[in-house]
Amino acid sequence: MSVTLLVFLCGLLIESCIAGNENAMVKEQIVPEIVDTAPNEVAEITYPSGAKANMGKILTPTQVSGQPTIKWNSDPNSFYTIVMVDPDAPSRANPFMREWNHWIVGNVPGDDISKGEVLTAFVSSGPPKDSGLHRYVIFIYKQDKELSFDEPRLPNNSADQRANFSVRNFAKKYNLEGPIAGNFYLAEWDSHVPIVHKQLGIDNI
Ligand SMILES: *[C@@H]1O[C@H](CO)[C@@H](O)[C@H](O)[C@H]1NC(C)=O
Ligand SMILES: *[C@@H]1O[C@H](CO)[C@@H](O)[C@H](O)[C@H]1NC(C)=O
Repeated sequence: MSVTLLVFLCGLLIESCIAGNENAMVKEQIVPEIVDTAPNEVAEITYPSGAKANMGKILTPTQVSGQPTIKWNSDPNSFYTIVMVDPDAPSRANPFMREWNHWIVGNVPGDDISKGEVLTAFVSSGPPKDSGLHRYVIFIYKQDKELSFDEPRLPNNSADQRANFSVRNFAKKYNLEGPIAGNFYLAEWDSHVPIVHKQLGIDNI
């Protein structure tokens, strides 16, 4: 096989990998419903249960019930912002609360989320019963410097101010670059959801 052909084939494979990420987010309408472009990099997102997000693979609320670890190609000298949203609140068919803000950590040095500034405390997936599959999307943005965030700090025991969020507007407001990496899963109601709703102090719906 000639070197030229090899280089050509490798090029095709890389192209199809990148196109694959793009297509999963385009196929599920994350682009353009909540962001204009898909990230080039697939972030590695792992839950305490061992489950991993895999570009639209279905997971259960039980599997994703704890705060995940996230890995991406990070620069230790840069700051990043992590955002998790559900564009399908209360359902994908009638998303009048789009987007629901699940988690925001800003000023993350490199990929050490534990050293970042929590703006919105992590709340796991709680899709209402009979509301179908929701898309749960996690994006990583790169900051141009350490930022001073003018945002309400939202605790994990209330749903106040979490609805009607826009990750697009948030990224614009703080001039964030990206999303540079991301991933998502789909999930629908299971028996763990009442626990999440109880934590938020909302009647089970
Ligand atoms: C969200 O926005 C919709 C209109 O798009 C409005 O009907 C609803 O009350 C808002 N919900 C909250 C909690 O602000
Ligand atoms: C909610 O936040 C508190 C305070 O940070 C923390 O101790 C607790 O583990 C959190 N609960 C859940 C279910 O994440």
